[in-house]
Amino acid sequence: MAYENILRDDRDGIAFVTVNRPDKLNALSQQVRDEVLAALGELERDDAVGVVVVTGAGEKAFIAGADISEFEGRSPFDQRDAMRFPRLYDVMSGFPKPVIAMINGFCLGGGCELAMSCDLRIASDRARFGQPEIKLGLIPGGGGTQRLPRLVGTGHALRLILTGDMIPAAEALQIGLVEMVVPHEELRARTLELAARIAAMSPLTLRVAKEAVRASESLPLSAGIVYERDLFSLCFSTEDMKEGVAAFLQKRPAAWKGR
Ligand code: COA
Repeated sequence: MAYENILRDDRDGIAFVTVNRPDKLNALSQQVRDEVLAALGELERDDAVGVVVVTGAGEKAFIAGADISEFEGRSPFDQRDAMRFPRLYDVMSGFPKPVIAMINGFCLGGGCELAMSCDLRIASDRARFGQPEIKLGLIPGGGGTQRLPRLVGTGHALRLILTGDMIPAAEALQIGLVEMVVPHEELRARTLELAARIAAMSPLTLRVAKEAVRASESLPLSAGIVYERDLFSLCFSTEDMKEGVAAFLQKRPAAWKGR
């Protein structure tokens, strides 16, 4: 598919999806959301892709939120249609391959919600984070009221959502909104390094690991523990598990087959 608002760039099993509207700080228009969803569909089917990295074009922004210009004059029914299923945020969080948000600048509103839907967040030390919807008479609508408290706790989530304040990368790291902060100039290299280490694992096992952890977001602990046991046992059916164990015992690197 030809895209107008995103760029796709694949290398060594790592696919970069870049929202490419730098003059609008990569705001998420309907078309951007549709194109990212379409790209995810392609990436899911592409066996050459092991890890996906999502980022924003330019030096200034990852994604500065939903495209506010689309809100004007919209009826509630239009808005509900714009939020039709499948939602980008849920597809991202349930995507069967690891997804890393490479946060290169402003990470606001729907941009922050998209980053939270990814599996890992690595941020430039210049990035800034926030859920500013309250200043528009809105609340987060891309899962922010649910995913933010799960990541940072109810208190920090309410502070960000009720004030609309922006916080710097160092604070985002401190409260657990991102997992890594690196110097701006090193962001791409450090992301590639992280993505490559993950892409070197068995894709089958990565998928099961992500599924198990994602289940913890909706299952009670006792059911989650049972689910984990079943997925752990399921791994005994794979060639990759036999290979991983044999490689350890024979003191050699494992050669994964993805089966
Ligand atoms: N939707 C639509 N357009 C946006 C946008 C958004 N979420 N965020 C930025 N833009 C546009 C601006 O309108 C401006 O366009 P213009 O040059 O045609 O006027 C351009 O991107 C550059 O933004 P600008 O505001 O001039 O940059 P800045 O450095 O002065 O401020 C921000 C940066 C991030 C503080 C500011 O753009 C902002 O507050 N954006 C909205 C964030 C938001 O509320 N997101 C949640 C949406 S629900």
